[in-house]
Amino acid sequence: MQTPRSCWFPRLLPPLLALVLLAAAVRLAPTEAEQDREREPAYWNAQAKEMLQAALRLRPRAHRAKNIILFLGDGMGVSTVSAARILKGQMDGRWGEDTILAMETFPYLALSKTYSVDKQVADSASTATAYHCGVKANSKTVGLSANAVAHECNTTFGNEVYSVLHRAKKQGKSVGIVTTTRVQHASPAAAYAHSVSRSWYSDNDIPSSARRQGCVDIATQLVTNVDIDVILGGGRMYMTPKGTPDPEYPAWSSRKGDRKDKRNLIDVWKKARPDKHSQYVWHKRQFDEINVKRTDRLLGLFEPKDMRYEVYRNTTRDPSIVEMTEKAIQILSKNPNGYFLFVEDEYFFIRSHLLLRACLICLVLYLRGRIDHGHHEGVAKLALTEAVMFDRAVQRASQLTRESDTLTVVTADHSHVFTFGGNTPRGNPIFGLAPKQADDRMPFTSILYANGPGYVHANGTRENITLVDYYDEEYMQQAAVPLDSETHGGEDVAIYAKGPMAHLFHGVKEQHYIAHAMAYAACIPPYTDCPPHLPISAGQSNTFSGLLLCLSGLPWILVR
Ligand SMILES: *[C@@H]1O[C@H](CO)[C@@H](O)[C@H](O)[C@H]1NC(C)=O
Ligand SMILES: *[C@@H]1O[C@H](CO)[C@@H](O)[C@H](O)[C@H]1NC(C)=O
Ligand SMILES: *[C@@H]1O[C@H](CO)[C@@H](O)[C@H](O)[C@H]1NC(C)=O
Ligand SMILES: *[C@@H]1O[C@H](CO)[C@@H](O)[C@H](O)[C@H]1NC(C)=O
Repeated sequence: MQTPRSCWFPRLLPPLLALVLLAAAVRLAPTEAEQDREREPAYWNAQAKEMLQAALRLRPRAHRAKNIILFLGDGMGVSTVSAARILKGQMDGRWGEDTILAMETFPYLALSKTYSVDKQVADSASTATAYHCGVKANSKTVGLSANAVAHECNTTFGNEVYSVLHRAKKQGKSVGIVTTTRVQHASPAAAYAHSVSRSWYSDNDIPSSARRQGCVDIATQLVTNVDIDVILGGGRMYMTPKGTPDPEYPAWSSRKGDRKDKRNLIDVWKKARPDKHSQYVWHKRQFDEINVKRTDRLLGLFEPKDMRYEVYRNTTRDPSIVEMTEKAIQILSKNPNGYFLFVEDEYFFIRSHLLLRACLICLVLYLRGRIDHGHHEGVAKLALTEAVMFDRAVQRASQLTRESDTLTVVTADHSHVFTFGGNTPRGNPIFGLAPKQADDRMPFTSILYANGPGYVHANGTRENITLVDYYDEEYMQQAAVPLDSETHGGEDVAIYAKGPMAHLFHGVKEQHYIAHAMAYAACIPPYTDCPPHLPISAGQSNTFSGLLLCLSGLPWILVR
């Protein structure tokens, strides 16, 4: 997550509460029967027994992965996942704590240490280099080892490191990237580019001295470094000659083509593989018309810069992340050698924005009197559907793939200094108050930030929020330290995994291990001593043989 955006984060959280309360007012929170059952040991014992049996049944899939899908929730720390889980449940009129997200059904889990070579608390560029290329790096740089120095062009050459996507392509797999940001953004960029600056999107962004030294912009590298079969996201303006009017916003001069070199990189991508059927689309109608059976390569650029957040998305003009993920899998999965797909979402922002709108609509309907609960329900449903977009993309991918041949990994690049606590009772609205007063005899919200724009002190004390409308969309949760923009967090993030060799994701791991475990699972170089092609006996492998296989590969991991 780039920091300038982070300032929206706290501001847009509180409207969620209003929606939750509204939902709670219309639909009951847990029924009495549901509340009663939790008093009985039998309920907990039965539930745990089921979990135990599932745990005992679990067998590692100790065979080679044909396909790999890597989902990246930008900034999706563990506290964010927990809050999102509660929110999802509360939007459904429930207490929320026991809700299960799609990613939470994955059987294997590890923690990822996200520090970079130069930073204890890392940025999206260095972390992307780690999980894509398997090497920790310096902040601001993508696809380069830490020998490279940010913004110093001449430290690029000879320090390139190559992603699992790049190596998967060389090995004959199809590869794709799907993102809600511009496709040249740091997280996807580390999969195909090598740049000492994450913000050199087009040649116009590169200082002339660096250009003279031979540094190439990220958009050019997108279409010249690796033949990427499916590219879906934003970032049109970095692909067309300076002054080219944008097809969607022809009157906006700030959205015109940006390239000084006058190249049309969309044409370069299209012409790169005359032997294949390639399609470029920028509109959802064309996107929907794509015949996945007849299309080998697809480039979809739906906005000049980043794609709009889900709430602002024009659903007739731009596809959702779920639709993009679906189309990508349908095209890539035609390759008998398998595929590698990277899907990035700016997870929490989507929730916030969409709920902001959903909430306003709800409140308007509410004020009109609860006349038309049908409409009201419709809006709540829309809001719910949209709020779980990232998780729905994970879910959709699960429906379109087989756990027996596809390794799916869901993780984050880094966390945020976001927390919730304060002895809140069960079912407490996730954006509500903690039940007791602080030592300054004033109330506080459960969600708080360690830093950020929510630091509001008046006359030497923090603000008394008793009469403050913390449901208001302008309200920012309080922060201990004033900052324009709330920062990333430095604690570990989770890695969720399922499919072949998913059991390699266990324990506390370094972030760059993700790339190595994925490569090993699918037998992508440098790994050649790899898991066998088929399950030992059609899914009946036992833990012991799984362990043996796992151990037999270990020397490789260690040696490399
Ligand atoms: C790289 O360029 C910088 C100035 O941009 C210069 O100070 C440095 O000496 C150069 N390094 C090499 C190895 O050429
Ligand atoms: C969505 O896009 C279509 C054209 O593609 C346009 O006609 C419509 O007005 C847009 N809707 C909104 C709400 O902007
Ligand atoms: C906070 O505001 C409420 C409502 O105005 C007031 O009753 C309470 O005394 C205030 N608390 C402090 C510590 O100022
Ligand atoms: C701060 O103190 C001044 C003087 O005592 C008072 O007029 C003002 O209302 C106080 N501001 C707040 C936000 O409490």
